[in-house]
Amino acid sequence: MTDSPWWKHGVIYQIYPLSFQDSTGSGMGDFQGIIQRLDYIADLGVDAIWMSPFYPSPMADFGYDVADYTGVDSMFGNMSTFDRLLAEIHKRNLKLLIDFVPNHSSDEHPWFVESKKSKDNPKRDWYIWRDPKKDGSPPNNWVSMFGGPAWTLDKTTGQYHLHSFLNKQPDLNWRNPELKKAMFDAMRFWLDKGVDGFRLDAVPMIAKHPDLPDNPPNDTPNAQDEYSSTSLKRVYSEYYENLHPLYEEFRKVIDAYDGERLLVGEVWGPLDVWVSNYGKEGNGVHMPHNFRLINIEWKADIVQKTVDELEDALPKFAWPNYVLANHDVLRLASRIGQEQARVAAVMLLTLRGTPTMYYGDELGLPNGDIPLGKERDPAANPDSFVTINRDVARTPMQWSANPFAGFTRAKQPWLPVSLDYKTRNVAVLNERPRSILSLYKRLLRVRKQSQALQIGSYAAIETPADVYAYIREHERERMLVALNFTNEEKFVKLPIEGKVVLNTRLDSDSDRVEQKLKLRPNEAVIVELRPGIPDPKASKAAILEDRGYVLVVDDDLGARTLLSRIVSRSGLRVKTANDGLEALDLAYEEAPLMILLDIMMPRLDGFEVVLRLQADPQLRSVPVVAVTASDEKKKREASMLPGIKGVLAKAQENLVEEVERFVKELAQKG
Ligand code: GLC
Repeated sequence: MTDSPWWKHGVIYQIYPLSFQDSTGSGMGDFQGIIQRLDYIADLGVDAIWMSPFYPSPMADFGYDVADYTGVDSMFGNMSTFDRLLAEIHKRNLKLLIDFVPNHSSDEHPWFVESKKSKDNPKRDWYIWRDPKKDGSPPNNWVSMFGGPAWTLDKTTGQYHLHSFLNKQPDLNWRNPELKKAMFDAMRFWLDKGVDGFRLDAVPMIAKHPDLPDNPPNDTPNAQDEYSSTSLKRVYSEYYENLHPLYEEFRKVIDAYDGERLLVGEVWGPLDVWVSNYGKEGNGVHMPHNFRLINIEWKADIVQKTVDELEDALPKFAWPNYVLANHDVLRLASRIGQEQARVAAVMLLTLRGTPTMYYGDELGLPNGDIPLGKERDPAANPDSFVTINRDVARTPMQWSANPFAGFTRAKQPWLPVSLDYKTRNVAVLNERPRSILSLYKRLLRVRKQSQALQIGSYAAIETPADVYAYIREHERERMLVALNFTNEEKFVKLPIEGKVVLNTRLDSDSDRVEQKLKLRPNEAVIVELRPGIPDPKASKAAILEDRGYVLVVDDDLGARTLLSRIVSRSGLRVKTANDGLEALDLAYEEAPLMILLDIMMPRLDGFEVVLRLQADPQLRSVPVVAVTASDEKKKREASMLPGIKGVLAKAQENLVEEVERFVKELAQKG
């Protein structure tokens, strides 16, 4: 087993408790229902459950309007049912993350009831109250995420209260020390019980500019990664200067507890801002949820670019994570189709980073059909930032072909069960060895047995169009994952032979693969590549990392792996010389290894260098490094660069240090 914290190698499974299992006949899910289904979750093979809110709530936003941060809504059970649920979860070696909603409470929370009473009420400052502008209009131009102004006037006191979401979800004032303490105490309440961490709802919104100035206009509303949707950039309503000190305080609360408790933040926004949520030295949230693969076109090159950009943008301490669906977005299977949902499953569970699965995705659950006029989602209105009716992603879990899919014995569930429940349910799909459910289970098992898939490095490799493939590598173990995004057959060139450990069709089309891997239409395949051969000297020539420059020298590694590692990790643009590569592929083990790389270093003012790395077959691991440039002029320049002569002349005992120094010197030159 690995010694990384559980949340790095583990898989998180999100439950929307209203829709998982009803045990009382109320038509809504509850804790006892979840307890009854824990064996299913454990058997699936995930490691942790994240449960959406269950606090006492008027349910204006289905629990994201909290009326008591240390209570349980009677709809779900009582505190002792919660305790039992937690104990049963832990008994199965699973973790529990709970949703914590720091930005706003319900307007029915006793704190707000007090706060609203008068301007001098002791709880007045726990929320954000402001006088109207002179003309009586709201204090600033902020808009609610669910549409309309973010302010509502209270006639009694003549002031507006701020609400980033519904009027019934007033924003809390994190500048007030008493409020802050009360919120941290609430977190401690659950930590004391033993919950393993929190998903912090809409967390960047707790930090606001002290003066609440107007937000500036957004020129690209609805653009991917902008502060999407609203016509304003939320730069003052999500004011990062205030957020980071707050994050540190959150971390203090969490870190006082043993057992690797986790903070995940719900964070959207542009990549650089998003990354900053990890904190400068990793003292922000452990992981901001990564939604970047949700709103993009489902195409191999776009998906790869999104992943690679993220990998490049992450500082070393930041552990990635991937989310393909949750209770706020369309169902995965409806977004990309049933066939591709299987490809997506492979990707989600094999990319470098913690996967978060959404309940029902393991069945390929499609968007629910919500009859007109029966919508429950308060965000389903034309002015909302949420452009869908989120009910479609919240329909009941489908357990069997029984009425209402075995979810409830009530006359009606709170949301309709999907029409396909008779065939798409746990009981049926469990019996089918090639169902999507069987695929998820197999995948989770393959992942659990592979250090490379859990914590290994990631490098995309060269592929034909419409295919995305990458290698995950840890020590000697190398897993190649190839995803075919089309309904045509494709071939991927392998750096070295291997054996298929899983394909999305769950058949055994072919086990051993040598040079070419065939991908059938809409197929994803995981290949375990032949393990590296340990070589004491080769291990010395390992990986160089110097602010984005990575140079890998290893005479037992496929050139493509090596190149793509350089490309994806280094920020260098690498042009390959094909003949050199072919030679390497054939020459594995026996012949001299010759890797010819044209490395263009854009950061060095267009300077172009060729590094020739050669391993001598007799000496096996004493590579010779030659540095030249591709044209005469550059060659002269290159020969004048400090460090090169040394690299050339030495017997390469200290290859790693030599090359490292060389790269540094080049960088300084540039
Ligand atoms: C988050 C939740 C969403 C909720 C909103 C307001 O975005 O995921 O469901 O409506 O916060 O709390």
